[in-house]
Amino acid sequence: MEIVRLSTLDDWADTVAARFTARLAARPAPRLCLATGNTPLPLYDRCVAAVRAGAASFRDAEAFLLDEFGGVPREAEGRCEQMLRRALIDQVDLPAARFHTIDTDAADLEAICRQYEAAVGTLDLTLLGIGTNGHIGMNEPGAPPDSLTRRVDLSDETQRSATHYFGGRHTPTWGVTAGMATVLRSREIWLLATGSSKAAILRRLMTEPVSPLLPASLLRQHPRCILFCDDAAAAELPPAPPRPA
Ligand code: PGA
Repeated sequence: MEIVRLSTLDDWADTVAARFTARLAARPAPRLCLATGNTPLPLYDRCVAAVRAGAASFRDAEAFLLDEFGGVPREAEGRCEQMLRRALIDQVDLPAARFHTIDTDAADLEAICRQYEAAVGTLDLTLLGIGTNGHIGMNEPGAPPDSLTRRVDLSDETQRSATHYFGGRHTPTWGVTAGMATVLRSREIWLLATGSSKAAILRRLMTEPVSPLLPASLLRQHPRCILFCDDAAAAELPPAPPRPA
């Protein structure tokens, strides 16, 4: 796993956004899987500004929501779809039909999961946040490495942090997530982590053995995974080995 460490949150957002918009331009029809949560927000802000300035475009992209909460009202502000629409999708030039959401209200969830899995195919780039327990998407500790898109129960820790997305009005207990295998199939993966609340989990990520008990650690075996972090999140990482002379 390559580590790109930026000193401030502003540097982080500028750098990740510049690389992201370059990726958008580099492929004729980039297939993206996009995380929600708080971490990507400054990145999405920069992307919106770049599109408005005519410096980037989602015109030819295909975007998949990484995960979605279940059992909460469809219009609730903390639903992943709503968060991503507000932060990015409704403000850029992505054609509406190419934003793929996950309908957790459907009667036949297994069919929804199968359809999502088939539509995702091979992603070009997946953006992930990391939970303080090492989850990626809603793949909680213990998620099988060969798991596909499926319904999952959320850990107590994840439920506690998720309730903030809903202004404390709802506490989701389950969701549907792209699976570990779905994510690991992506040609490229960017793991995003900022702020001191992520320092301890990044230390665990880089120092503990690769194990499904720490889902993000599986990313260390991916050939093209980059961790983008700021100094606050990187504070407990072991020092980088010296560069060869
Ligand atoms: P956050 O969530 O970006 O809001 O910290 C990350 C996650 O739980 O995946």
